Amino acid sequence: MSENQTAKIIIEGKEHEYPVMIGSENEKAIDLRQFRKETGYITFDDGYGNTGSCLSNITFIDGEKGILRYRGIPIEQLAEKSSFLCAAYLIIYGKLPNETDLNEFRKKVAKKAHLHVDFKHHFEGFPKAAHPMAVLSSMLNSLGSYYPHMSTNNREQDLEQFDETAALLISKVRTIAAATYRMNMGLPFIYPRKDLRYVENFLHMMFTEPYEQYIAPKEVSDALDLFFLLHADHEQNCSTSTVRMVASSGANLFASVSAGVSALWGPLHGGANAAVVKMLQEIHDSGDDGSRYIRAAKDGKARLMGFGHRVYKNYDPRATIFGQAAERVLKALGREDPLLDIAHHLEQAALSDDYFIQRKLYPNVDFYSGIVLKAIGIPVEMFTVMFAIGRMPGWIANWKEMAETSTKIHRPRQVYTGPTISDYTPIEERK
Ligand SMILES: CC(C)(COP(=O)(O)OP(=O)(O)OC[C@H]1O[C@@H](n2cnc3c(N)ncnc32)[C@H](O)[C@@H]1OP(=O)(O)O)[C@@H](O)C(=O)NCCC(=O)NCCS
Repeated sequence: MSENQTAKIIIEGKEHEYPVMIGSENEKAIDLRQFRKETGYITFDDGYGNTGSCLSNITFIDGEKGILRYRGIPIEQLAEKSSFLCAAYLIIYGKLPNETDLNEFRKKVAKKAHLHVDFKHHFEGFPKAAHPMAVLSSMLNSLGSYYPHMSTNNREQDLEQFDETAALLISKVRTIAAATYRMNMGLPFIYPRKDLRYVENFLHMMFTEPYEQYIAPKEVSDALDLFFLLHADHEQNCSTSTVRMVASSGANLFASVSAGVSALWGPLHGGANAAVVKMLQEIHDSGDDGSRYIRAAKDGKARLMGFGHRVYKNYDPRATIFGQAAERVLKALGREDPLLDIAHHLEQAALSDDYFIQRKLYPNVDFYSGIVLKAIGIPVEMFTVMFAIGRMPGWIANWKEMAETSTKIHRPRQVYTGPTISDYTPIEERK
């Protein structure tokens, strides 16, 4: 942070001076916290593209350079050397765990995988075809009511229970997701197993049958672990900002992450990976190799799903990592997916096309992740749920940071554009 520079704003002929803040990666901001008090004006920034809503030391993104780091560590190094639970610990506690810390964290997460037996009534209350994201959001909020001492809405008490609550949510989000899939498919619920690691246990709860144990091929569990790791945090995106917004009122962690799931559900956020697979399938079914679709995208008649990003104006580093993972997992499973060929063709064609070059449109994380999830056997309706499992550590870390450092409720202002004062008209005089 620098206190030497200032920015001047002239309003109605009067000059106002504000401090400039500089982050640890040289990100610059004007500190406008006193702006309205001093000038009577507010700043207008719908979509918040120019607004810093918090100070955070969790994740750094440089969209121009295609950089993503959790607690300073490049995503490429984590993808190669770490695991989802290790990265989750890093994101939540700010440092890489040593062996003892990691083992304890693993054990704590493993111990909390079961759901209270009464939870079956919650599942029974949903129609069989309920969308898994609707179920997940409701279930996470309901979960808090089974642990009243962890969801008091008393900041100090909720923070005292934080370690337990964090492990519980990371663990049970996966149990709820698998149970939702089983419910949708009309299959019996499968209990978690303590001896299995995080991803293997999830795949077991998804795919084991009472008469046949599912054993995940290593390539499959590695690819899913990588998927979760790559989604574990992404700075102040829509769902994470929602979690912080809800937390700012003093709401507990269960309620806050439940809101995060709702925000993630939308197609402009977590829903894009499913849209990519749908697009690739349509291209395939129409006999196109992608060329016609590219033309339609350039003519404004279609969007190349999985391309472009609000922050990245370069390759999304997660897309590069996941493109390679897609190759690996399909090869290991001995499968050929014509959608992967179409994806490659689209990528090559778009990257050499002026339309995409000028607009800095590159593949984002969703471009290849749907192909990988599909190869693993995850149904398309569950794709966004997979994203939510992965993003849980990021939401938790942001809730913690917020709860420990801020007492201010988030409450933006607006520029009112409605009618000015008008008298109440009795009903008989209304037109
Ligand atoms: C992610 C996304 C919402 C970012 O949007 P944004 O930052 O608001 O960018 P804009 O929508 O303003 O697009 C800027 C220009 O690029 C074009 N563009 C952006 N994404 C495009 C895409 N995927 N295909 C074709 N053209 C695209 C827009 O038409 C616009 O062109 P114009 O300047 O001629 O009007 C957008 O790129 C998109 O819809 N991508 C597809 C969905 C997706 O993959 N989402 C997952 C994100 S992780």
